[in-house]
Amino acid sequence: MWNKTLSLTLVVLITLAACAQAISVIPQPTELKPQSGEFVINAKTKILVTPPKGEACKVAKYLQEFLATPTDLHLPVTDVKTDSNVIALHLETADGYVPESYRLKVTPDRIDISATDAAGLFYGVQTLRQLLPNAIEYDVPMHGVEWTVPCVEIKDTPRYSWRGLMLDESRHFFGKAAVKKLLDRMVLYKLNRFHWHLTDSPGWRIEIKQYPKLTTIGGIGCESNPKAEAQFYTQEDIKEIVTYATERQIIVIPEIDMPGHATAANRAYPEFSGGGSKRHPDFTFNPGSEATYEYLTNILKEVTELFPGPWLHYGGDEVHFGNQQWKTNPDVQQMMKKQGLKDIREMEHYFNQRMAGVIEKLGKTTMGWDEIIDAGVPAEHAVIMWWRHDKPQQLNKAIERGYRAVMCPRIPCYFDFVQHDSHKYGRRWGGKFCTVESVYQFPVFPAEYTAKQHQQILGIQTCVWSERIQNTVRLDFMVYPRLAALAEACWTQDKNKDLGNFKKRLPALLKRHDVLGDYYFDCFEPANTPEPKGHEKK
Ligand code: ACM
Repeated sequence: MWNKTLSLTLVVLITLAACAQAISVIPQPTELKPQSGEFVINAKTKILVTPPKGEACKVAKYLQEFLATPTDLHLPVTDVKTDSNVIALHLETADGYVPESYRLKVTPDRIDISATDAAGLFYGVQTLRQLLPNAIEYDVPMHGVEWTVPCVEIKDTPRYSWRGLMLDESRHFFGKAAVKKLLDRMVLYKLNRFHWHLTDSPGWRIEIKQYPKLTTIGGIGCESNPKAEAQFYTQEDIKEIVTYATERQIIVIPEIDMPGHATAANRAYPEFSGGGSKRHPDFTFNPGSEATYEYLTNILKEVTELFPGPWLHYGGDEVHFGNQQWKTNPDVQQMMKKQGLKDIREMEHYFNQRMAGVIEKLGKTTMGWDEIIDAGVPAEHAVIMWWRHDKPQQLNKAIERGYRAVMCPRIPCYFDFVQHDSHKYGRRWGGKFCTVESVYQFPVFPAEYTAKQHQQILGIQTCVWSERIQNTVRLDFMVYPRLAALAEACWTQDKNKDLGNFKKRLPALLKRHDVLGDYYFDCFEPANTPEPKGHEKK
């Protein structure tokens, strides 16, 4: 008897271990308990939704549409309770739920996903997606596949509320289809903030109705071809992308970079230029002229109308690249005198403070790169992006001064850096670069950080700068699989992070990228995926 029980227990344990191995979810959930058996989606499966209205219904429809093409099954969405062969979505208030968290239970009879908000339900659906065979990613009907889901119990809560990706479309413009594809991949990995770097020196990419030359002239050119015809998003395009993102629980944060990185805008409207340097001509807006503040306020008003999210990013970085002419510009000199500013650094701080005030009046929270900490922008109205990895003191300063912060230090968060020593075209910094492993292991905090300090850190973001990324094949190569590592750094509780285990789960996700047709870097066999040539920056 004892022997029989023991062997039965062993069989169960071995089966569960096999299941555990078969389940590869990225980012790793907080709690995942494999169970025996499986649920099979077939023509009789229904999607049950409670309550049968509002946001829960939208998630149910998303699931219905997601499953429809590859399975060739149009599962009905219903509010009629059924006990079996059902995928049930429950939006409910219950103890233990926090925003974006969810529970997922798969038994042979039914699948239940419950959450306290639509985002949680949506992420439960994304986990279900990863439990299904990779064939679920095809956009054509896949006959003959059995749509099995292993039985499992999952409780899941994200570590950080800010799980972001920034895309630079000034240096190279990728267009609507590429952006939607990127948003879809963010969804796969439960990322929720798309920071859109729409203006910079090579090109201005967002239509502003009051100043049409910003795009007709400012949109001309890119990093690899200064004469490329104007490329930009119309306001209708922007609305389409924002809606697409919103339906996928992603908030879009526009960035209109100022007072530096303004060369493209200044080509269109030179009357607002504050000059530049030999290397960076017409790099700045003119902070000494009242007309500049009016112009930029009008631009930000139009931008605000297009982006319903709470944040507006106004850059603020690297102004020293091209502010030398401020020293001799009569407007700037007069403004400095009037405001009692003793040098051009104080002029820059005045500009930053004043424009932060404009953003606040427009009802948005200011975001800026970590230079704006030194400008004294009020901490309660601003979120800092810490990007200068070689200046960790900027993050500490942000925290000490009461700012909320998003961490995107160049190393390991900039995906324009190479990810393998054999790669030639991306950036390095003092020989260092951003491997999958280093992305995964980020962040490591100083031990003395208090709980309150941790709370001020909203999360993590990658920045995909595109000086050396001139097409979507190279974009894929630079983003994957580092995005998977970033997702786990953003989502998975520190105590559950395990690089070795991540590397065991990653191959299954890479196969999913194969189905999706993405040209990822094969970090296990680098020779399998030659590096696509990158634009060589002069
Ligand atoms: C930056 O990389 N200039 C924010």
